Amino acid sequence: MKLLLLGKGGQVGWELQRSLAPLGELVALDFDSTELRADFSRPEELADTVLKVRPDVIINAAAHTAVDKAEGEVEFARKLNATSPGVVAEAARQVGALMVHYSTDYVFDGSGSTPWKEDDATAPLSVYGRTKLEGEQLVAANCARHLIFRTSWVYAARGGNFAKTMLRLAKERDRLTVIDDQFGAPTGAELLADITAHAIRDTLRDPGKAGLYHLVAGGEATWYGYARFVLEQAQAAGVELKASPNAIDPVPTSAFPTPATRPHNSRLDTRKLQATFGLTLPPWQAGVARMLRETL
Ligand SMILES: NC(=O)c1ccc[n+]([C@@H]2O[C@H](COP(=O)([O-])OP(=O)(O)OC[C@H]3O[C@@H](n4cnc5c(N)ncnc54)[C@H](OP(=O)(O)O)[C@@H]3O)[C@@H](O)[C@H]2O)c1
Repeated sequence: MKLLLLGKGGQVGWELQRSLAPLGELVALDFDSTELRADFSRPEELADTVLKVRPDVIINAAAHTAVDKAEGEVEFARKLNATSPGVVAEAARQVGALMVHYSTDYVFDGSGSTPWKEDDATAPLSVYGRTKLEGEQLVAANCARHLIFRTSWVYAARGGNFAKTMLRLAKERDRLTVIDDQFGAPTGAELLADITAHAIRDTLRDPGKAGLYHLVAGGEATWYGYARFVLEQAQAAGVELKASPNAIDPVPTSAFPTPATRPHNSRLDTRKLQATFGLTLPPWQAGVARMLRETL
């Protein structure tokens, strides 16, 4: 089996390089790959790459994920998040490949407190959310054999992340202020990559499992609760902090104005994924604690 991974250097792309490797021959590309082109700002070049590789599965982890920056570069965000995934999906259909793509909780308006189901009405609040929604619609329309995973609050051990920022700030400052009215589930790139590999195998055997799924770690948190957990873990590991977990002040979103509006309720209902693939999504604390043990 041949797999084509696009966006190999991102948080999820990096972990997919690991989790997909045992499934078959993996061709992994990034936007600056030269021999085979995979620059999502040049959608016209992407079909050629797919037709040359002729993969059985395409996994797209490339995206424009700078949520605030996207507000000021709508067309660029649209190319990366919608037009190019649409082109890749059309090429996937032509070569008969299964197309795997990622989307986001930002397709919802964040109202209420009930976890969103896959078929709930979408109403994105930001350019990022709108272009990601367009992307998932194009992928679904152009390639019926698709897996689209909506996820939220992605972190990885590699590179910067929210937990590392909280740790740095807690070493520098006596008190921290963190948002306490956005609810979601911190989800590890490792978990996303592992579930993706399982779901690909299952869907290749049973094509009826293709479709749209919500995929996040178990449980829920606010950024404030997430930050407290991170500092508690650090303290327990003997890390010296100026700000203890009790020195975090919960604040509303309005305390940190940003160009893009974020949803308050980013809870995603994952029952469809767990039932379809017979998989369990561990609590978010397990993944974050593991990532901290690796990086502290
Ligand atoms: N991060 C989150 O919290 C979050 C939440 C919900 C959903 N998601 C979705 O999950 C998926 C994976 O996200 P992630 O967290 O792994 O994002 P990420 O770390 O920002 O990775 C995105 C990847 O896209 C690449 N890229 C940027 N411009 C490109 C271009 N012109 N052509 C091709 N590739 C380009 C990036 O390369 P460079 O690194 O070199 O720029 C990077 O490898 C995305 O679909 C995202 O929308 C993420």
